[in-house]
Amino acid sequence: MTMSNYTLLKANSYIEEHKDKIVQDYRLNYHFTAPTGWINDPNGFVFYKGEYHLFYQFHPYNSEWGPMHWGHAKSKDMITWEHLPVALAPDTPADAGGCFSGSAIEKDGNLYLMYTGIMHVETENKTQQVQCIAVSKDGINFEKVKQNPIIDASSLPINAVQEDFRDPKVFERNGIYYSVIVSKTKKETGQVLLYKSLDLINWEFKSILLEGQEEHGVMWECPDLFELNGHDVLILSPIQMPKKGHEFHNTSSSIVMVGRVDWNTGKFVKSTLQEIDHGLDFYAPQTLQDANGNRIMIAWMQMWGRTQPTHVERHGWAGAMTLPRVLEIKNEQLSQKAINEINHYQTVEKEYHNIYLENETKTVDSFSEPSLRIQLNANLENAKTFFIELPKNEDEKAVLLFQVEEGVMELSREYIGLPILGSEDATLVKRTVSIPLIDNQLQLDIFIDKSSIEVFINGGREVMSMTIFPLKAVYEYAIGVNGKVTINELQHSSIHVGE
Ligand code: FRU
Repeated sequence: MTMSNYTLLKANSYIEEHKDKIVQDYRLNYHFTAPTGWINDPNGFVFYKGEYHLFYQFHPYNSEWGPMHWGHAKSKDMITWEHLPVALAPDTPADAGGCFSGSAIEKDGNLYLMYTGIMHVETENKTQQVQCIAVSKDGINFEKVKQNPIIDASSLPINAVQEDFRDPKVFERNGIYYSVIVSKTKKETGQVLLYKSLDLINWEFKSILLEGQEEHGVMWECPDLFELNGHDVLILSPIQMPKKGHEFHNTSSSIVMVGRVDWNTGKFVKSTLQEIDHGLDFYAPQTLQDANGNRIMIAWMQMWGRTQPTHVERHGWAGAMTLPRVLEIKNEQLSQKAINEINHYQTVEKEYHNIYLENETKTVDSFSEPSLRIQLNANLENAKTFFIELPKNEDEKAVLLFQVEEGVMELSREYIGLPILGSEDATLVKRTVSIPLIDNQLQLDIFIDKSSIEVFINGGREVMSMTIFPLKAVYEYAIGVNGKVTINELQHSSIHVGE
């Protein structure tokens, strides 16, 4: 029996002792962060007995990735979260090397977690990725089933390598449980495997749902499959997806494919593929269906391979989740908007109508706390470039810049904050996305939360998310134009969660 140094008791006591020592400077206000330590992927995002549960990849002891636990929180509205005891620690033979990503589902009133265990194979002196189940009656205390691992590498198709097989997303369809799990092929590409079960404990391999090509990266992570607006939607996070135009510039990307699953053959046929978020920090999204049947997505607002300022500065924490976003498919394309619940936490501070600017940059407002939302509609018929410096102070600024003729939006952290290095060929300080305007109208819904910016463009047809770590408190924003612009409406609200 493999003995692990990690237990739930040890993790929970560590958190209790250290949570008040975390440096708050860059801690977000209305985005989810862990009580201590490092987080990455959202896991087990689920609506269970009237509340939303969010689990997450968690290394409580350090602001760097390490032996993976599952942190846990719950919420009534997905904005205010209550931290709960750590749900999983790497403390059994099947997961002693880490409890990697996975998902959750309710069955007979119990909450099941399906996750990847990193299992040591002592005879071969290596690790294997296997799938495990843990069950809870109360949604707080989880017991790992004695049958773990419930899926191991022996079930893999022959084109798969044994080392990379992870991130099960479980769902139910017509009384049958399915799980989509990613695996690496011998050709160094990603694929999604479909497994099937009647009881969540005994699983059989059904099919290769989708096999990636070279242009889709060297491995896939964190699959999610669901129905939305009459389509089958497959979400994936490919590693090293080659750049294409404005897309896939980060070392790892998150993509959405809209298409159709043939449930007889177990194959997914794609009709469209797009990058989900065109910012610098967005990865491993996972979705749930909310109490009203909406599809809600949340993601890790960070990127692999990057230096983490809050780790470098020894703040005791690293990583946050995006705002939960409502998804819709329109014309086979994804659109996203912040969930409505955020409106309950916002106070409108200023409202303007018909601001006219001509070849000038105007500081519009200052604000007392950098947790806010700016919504605007502008007519760009006579503009060459239109930009927002948000947030800014006398030395630093994040810039959102729209080149009207080219139809290209750029979001940059080049001139703001602590440096962030990455594993990309050259340090990435900005991203771009193509935005076709209709009737010259640009609509922006921008959320700032101390160290994050999320920009929803034209009703969420495109989104850009990015972290910033300003050196000074940032208290202003400015709008500028080359040419002429009329800002039909501009609203600035503060957002505050908690006391
Ligand atoms: C994605 C990922 C998953 C894995 C987890 C480990 O960000 O690499 O594939 O399960 O993180 O923390």
